[in-house]
Amino acid sequence: MPQYTQNPPLDIADLDADPLAQLQRWLDDAGAAGMIEPTAMTVATVDAQGRPSARIVLFKGFHGEGFERGLTFFTNYDSRKGRDLAANPHVALVFWWDKVERSVRIEGRAAKLPREVSERYFHSRPHDSQVGAVTSRQSAVVRSREALDQRYAEQLAHYEGRGVPLPEFWGGYRVAPEAVEFWQGRHGRLHDRLRYRREGDGWLVERLEP
Ligand SMILES: Cc1cc2nc3c(=O)[nH]c(=O)nc-3n(C[C@H](O)[C@H](O)[C@H](O)COP(=O)(O)O)c2cc1C
Repeated sequence: MPQYTQNPPLDIADLDADPLAQLQRWLDDAGAAGMIEPTAMTVATVDAQGRPSARIVLFKGFHGEGFERGLTFFTNYDSRKGRDLAANPHVALVFWWDKVERSVRIEGRAAKLPREVSERYFHSRPHDSQVGAVTSRQSAVVRSREALDQRYAEQLAHYEGRGVPLPEFWGGYRVAPEAVEFWQGRHGRLHDRLRYRREGDGWLVERLEP
């Protein structure tokens, strides 16, 4: 690990009162620093037996109001993560931006987005990606790559020249945060960690030991 040196000290007074506005600032910084996928975040879920699993998805903006406002991502509702979330809505999210030596951790609850929001996003994607989403039984075992390619070719032919309806099994989630931690690397392993957690009508920000 390098000695992290590029960040000026991070103090509570530097943070936006709203953790999601602060997150947007850091996302903008990561994008400006040339990260290829600054919106890539790890999503950890637990299954009905309490066993965790994690994978990366792309953050697709905020949705909702007040404490229900949260981070959105889109996926297959019948996937492993979708099944986990149906049994237990608690999730943890992690961003890591090496170019700016920063990370954000979020804990919260996931809820499905309204269908019209998923519809709007789904239809904003390229036609072939829409067909791909319809084709993939995400997380299921598939016999071979050829079997998948063949199913995709059939669906491409089926939908050639026409719109792809949003499948029931596909859509977005919104993760409304209960805690949001901003971490940035500092010299000598004495990193800055500032965590927002909900208290009453607002957010309490505390510094954590690195
Ligand atoms: C950079 C990157 C971005 C990804 N974005 C998404 C996404 O937005 N939605 C999604 O369902 N999967 C996305 N994936 C694939 C997931 O990591 C994962 O393979 C898939 O969602 C199946 O996970 P599951 O079986 O745990 O449900 C992405 C993978 C990478 C590496």
